[in-house]
Amino acid sequence: MNFLSPIIDKVSKGERDLVNCLVLGGGGREHALCDALAHAASCGRLFALPGSQAIAETTGARCPAFEDKIEGRRVLDFCQRNDIGLVVVGPEQPIAEGVADLLRQHDIPTLAPGAKASRIETSKAWAKDLFAQANISTPKAQITDSHKEAQIILARWTQFPVVVKADGLAQGKGVVVATTRRQAEEAVEHAMVEKRFGKAGTTLLFEEHLEGQELSYFSLCDGCEDNVRFFGAARDYKRAQDDDKGKNTGGMGAFALAPPMGEQGSLEERAVRDSIVLPLLRRLAKSAEPYRGILFLGLMATRSGVHVLEANARLGDPEAQTLLPLLEGDLVETFLAAAKGQRLRQDAQHRGSRRTFDFTESVHSVTVVAAAKGYPAKPQTGSAIKKLDAIEASPDLSLFHAGTVLQGAEEQNKGEKAFFRARGGRVFSVNARGGSFPEARRLAYETLKTIDWTEGFYRKDIACDAHTSAFLKTCDSILKFS
Ligand code: AMP
Ligand code: GLY
Repeated sequence: MNFLSPIIDKVSKGERDLVNCLVLGGGGREHALCDALAHAASCGRLFALPGSQAIAETTGARCPAFEDKIEGRRVLDFCQRNDIGLVVVGPEQPIAEGVADLLRQHDIPTLAPGAKASRIETSKAWAKDLFAQANISTPKAQITDSHKEAQIILARWTQFPVVVKADGLAQGKGVVVATTRRQAEEAVEHAMVEKRFGKAGTTLLFEEHLEGQELSYFSLCDGCEDNVRFFGAARDYKRAQDDDKGKNTGGMGAFALAPPMGEQGSLEERAVRDSIVLPLLRRLAKSAEPYRGILFLGLMATRSGVHVLEANARLGDPEAQTLLPLLEGDLVETFLAAAKGQRLRQDAQHRGSRRTFDFTESVHSVTVVAAAKGYPAKPQTGSAIKKLDAIEASPDLSLFHAGTVLQGAEEQNKGEKAFFRARGGRVFSVNARGGSFPEARRLAYETLKTIDWTEGFYRKDIACDAHTSAFLKTCDSILKFS
């Protein structure tokens, strides 16, 4: 296996202006981003920092530094040396640290909000305040940075479950849905006394628990507060085990269907756009700065309407692996327009989409994440994953690596066929597309069965009929008619 494959032949892309692109990050979401950008007609040389061996191998992206920490000054230096014309930032940490601010100061178009606007993700308390100012429905919450006050709030709390949330970034582990007072007290102890999340847990939110359908809703924003493109909606699976049992994870799977990219004013997106996204963007522009990049809203549709559970300043993972394969068109042009603050045009289209949602004929996309046994608490790393390469060829399938490493050189020298080893919790995901959810789901699971990895596991209920029909009903009501 030649994982340092040469960059894609630019001559084959014709005479148009090519843009050198850099993706920051090296997980499954960034693998999907590199894959989508590599297929864009105006993508010049493609880089990923730190990227991964798998990203380099399968997308042709150059990944010159396999280091995990993404440091702003080094990124800037890299961009200047490699004539980078577009940076797309995957993970939240560099966004929170202001990488987009630094790059924009040096005129490097960057698809990500600045540090100020990213507070929508980095402080749940700040986001709550913003939702209130923008008149956006969100679960009621009490917020405190005092351990004593937290105990008093809990002692008076009558409705369980209660959702206890660390204010800051906690790698997806800062939210506990506590079904009993005891569990909630433990969550407070972990955050405020044991300081398991460091500074992120010094302020806590106690939030009313809502029952309903969750939806990850994405908008592409170009910094113009009256202009936004609907970028897709997906259902994510947060819990580690089937039937939503087990611990909260970064996401064990997702599904979505090809929606229209969203013409300005089209019926499908108007409801959420007008009542949630645009008021939020206007408020962000006033309280922080104009928002440029992908806005990811965690919505909960209940009988009483649509509520915002959280906002993130980036694409989701594994939602990116689910939505990006549905896009066709020149994603580099589209991302570049948003990054430069130019009004977005209609360039990118979803594959097989129509102007309105069509639940029977559109392209359906299902992603199943495979994780190392023990994830999320204590993933066992180092095990060999065999036969992964057998699935790369099909047009309806994508394999996105998240935590793999190619076997050591000495093993290759013994003449063995190359294979990957697990190096993270979530290790890879299989995305399958089809004319219906059952078709896409079947292909994803049949593919997973061909992979030889006894030290890994995956959920068996991703995109099962009950979940997809509930999702379609939610889309139908909140994206179309409400
Ligand atoms: P968050 O990071 O705020 O989205 O929380 C992570 C997950 O916890 C969400 O995706 C939901 O599954 C769950 N969750 C968060 N807040 C609530 C809430 N108020 N009611 C019910 N579930 C919630
Ligand atoms: N899948 C949820 C997230 O990326 O935060």
